[in-house]
Amino acid sequence: MKFFFQLSEKVIIFAPLFKAETGCGAVGSALRSGRRGRRFESSHPDLKRDRFNRWTGFLFSYFCCRGAPHGATGARESRPDMAGDLRKNMTKYNRIFRVADNRRPSPGYSLIRLQSDESLPPMVPGQFVSVRVDGGRNTFLRRPFSIHNVDTDDRALELLVQVVGEGSARIATLQPGDPVDMIFPLGNGFTTDIAPMSEVLLTGGGAGIAPLLFLGKELRQRGIVPTFLLGGRSAANLIRMDAFEAVGRLCCTTEDGSMGERGFVTQHSILQDRRFDFIYTCGPRPMMAAVAAYARRTGSPCEVSLENTMACGIGACLCCVEDTRQGHQCVCTAGPVFNIEQLKW
Ligand SMILES: Cc1cc2nc3c(=O)[nH]c(=O)nc-3n(C[C@H](O)[C@H](O)[C@H](O)COP(=O)(O)OP(=O)(O)OC[C@H]3O[C@@H](n4cnc5c(N)ncnc54)[C@H](O)[C@@H]3O)c2cc1C
Ligand code: FES
Repeated sequence: MKFFFQLSEKVIIFAPLFKAETGCGAVGSALRSGRRGRRFESSHPDLKRDRFNRWTGFLFSYFCCRGAPHGATGARESRPDMAGDLRKNMTKYNRIFRVADNRRPSPGYSLIRLQSDESLPPMVPGQFVSVRVDGGRNTFLRRPFSIHNVDTDDRALELLVQVVGEGSARIATLQPGDPVDMIFPLGNGFTTDIAPMSEVLLTGGGAGIAPLLFLGKELRQRGIVPTFLLGGRSAANLIRMDAFEAVGRLCCTTEDGSMGERGFVTQHSILQDRRFDFIYTCGPRPMMAAVAAYARRTGSPCEVSLENTMACGIGACLCCVEDTRQGHQCVCTAGPVFNIEQLKW
């Protein structure tokens, strides 16, 4: 009874916070839904059948979204997160990193290097971290960001952050030495176990290029020279080109023609006369859909990394669901990487 009271109290205290931040009306499983404010239908039959308990979900989401306050955990504490219990083979860590560097590779973007005191656990390209953003009125929920680069020797990882709102703006202003509370590594990554010498295409746009550098490096270590095809509105949106060029062949497109070929990535000449053994893509949804259509035409296996809006990041709140051929699946746990054959696109 006492436990129930405590539980209810937390729910009552924190439910309005979720609601205030997300703007979602459905109290319960829906926290943030759909990139453009699309409501999550908690009445969907698949979810009614789900044994998920809404109240437990709220409490769970609270702990997972916020974790314990800095003062309670100690600034250097690193512990396997409770989310690890959810998926038997995945250990997730809740660890405080320190900002080692924060640069502006282009206006509106921030490249943050985060260093840990302890060695880093294995991470797979396509996985993401969940960053706690302190001090904002509207940043109660952690923000998900792809792992852009990993430097295991230096116990550091890098995030490429596009400033779109309060959370990302706060992250962009972090200074060297600042602590950053992260849960990582989350989700399922890209398939990298493919035949050496394969012709692979890694294509992305905007902040969607973030996971492709880590992926390209991993493939390179496996004897594959990747072809990057990166797109943006103009040259200012094409960032870290030197880093990509150091890993593989680089092609790019801009909508205004200020760099590379004019147009969208799917209009690039490299796609006219080539068939790739594997295609990976991350970026705006219409771009990924066009890449998926190209992959189907050429019969190439293709994986996409979805960026559905997330809240808990660990499969507890059900706000990131994607309607797949296997039913509704949480992008944060079943994805964010999906084979296009799994999707209804
Ligand atoms: C698995 C995953 C990996 C991601 N990786 C990266 C990354 O490497 N680099 C990066 O810059 N961003 C990445 N994102 C997107 C990033 O999480 C959002 O941009 C961020 O949460 C926005 O927070 P905010 O507080 O700045 O903006 P908010 O105030 O929450 O929102 C501001 C605007 O951004 C839009 N927005 C919110 N969430 C998303 C989203 N998930 N995708 C697109 N638009 C959104 C909102 O609709 C709103 O218009 C990723 C998202 C996911 C789900
Ligand atoms: S973000 Fe909560 S279930 Fe995916």
